[in-house]
Amino acid sequence: MLAKVEELLKEVEEFSTTDLDAVEAFRIRLLGKKGGITALLAEFRNVPVEQKKEFGQKINTLKKAALEKVNALKLAAADAESTNHGLDLTMSGQPFEQGARHPLSVVRNEIIEIFNRIGFAVSEGPEIEDDWHNFTALNFPKEHPARDMQDTFFIDPETALRTHTSSVQVRVMEGSEPPIRTISPGRVFRNEAISARAHCIFHQVEGLYIDKGVSFADLKQTLLYFAKEMFGEKTKIRLRPSYFPFTEPSAEVDVSCQLCSGKGCNVCKNTGFLEIMGCGMIDPNVLENCGIDSKVYSGFAFGMGIERIAMLKYQVNDLRHFFENDLRFLKQFKTAY
Ligand code: PHE
Repeated sequence: MLAKVEELLKEVEEFSTTDLDAVEAFRIRLLGKKGGITALLAEFRNVPVEQKKEFGQKINTLKKAALEKVNALKLAAADAESTNHGLDLTMSGQPFEQGARHPLSVVRNEIIEIFNRIGFAVSEGPEIEDDWHNFTALNFPKEHPARDMQDTFFIDPETALRTHTSSVQVRVMEGSEPPIRTISPGRVFRNEAISARAHCIFHQVEGLYIDKGVSFADLKQTLLYFAKEMFGEKTKIRLRPSYFPFTEPSAEVDVSCQLCSGKGCNVCKNTGFLEIMGCGMIDPNVLENCGIDSKVYSGFAFGMGIERIAMLKYQVNDLRHFFENDLRFLKQFKTAY
């Protein structure tokens, strides 16, 4: 009989499950009316007197161990059930919809990549800008009519929302020594009526290259490289004379129309070309304003609207689509960028 007690004790020690029904079955098998321990207790009166003490102690230990085991397993099983409730970890996941980057981010990242490949770093600056960085340093004297080229949101007479990211380039020129190769992507603000072609908030990438002996030919070749990378190998560019206070000479850059490949259509108004940016050789006054010796260094600058590039690249005919957050529009731009 002692052997039977030992055997049951071993069974109690080894038993383990997280299933509530199995715990109950185990309890009945040992402690139920017809259970193993109950049967042992019933036989207790047949045990010879001299063995009663040892046997009694053993059987008490067994009973106690069995009860403790049942209680512990019941708690653990209930716990597992409540946390796993209805959860089948082997089930395949709910498909969830993949998001898409905003087309303006896609195009901005692409522009940054293209210029990174030829050694341009990225610089950023504040959206609220002082008069010096947005205008004066860039050769817009106070009261100069060129200030009217960009309708400005003023905060006070000396502070405005930047009208272009050329302001960032002033900061870069002031804070570093040539050679400088940098582009400044960012949000800019102009007090313009919102239409299919204009918005009061839009995005620019402006570029700057200053070193000894930088020429207009370098500018043209850099922009041709950019246009081909952005719009395809067959793309041509055309430069038209223009005016900006901070560059001399200045030009507007056109790319061959993507829709008609330069043959002429209603998008390019039969010219075969579409305007994408302004550029020019940095005016020596601007270099001097920023502490760079214009007798030693020269440089070029260019600036483009990201919306405009995105409209051309993806043939979007209304700039307002970029700001409306209509998922049907945005979902079309799933890309790696
Ligand atoms: N800053 C000009 C603009 O916002 C663009 C530009 C940059 C033109 C650099 C020439 C050179 O319109």
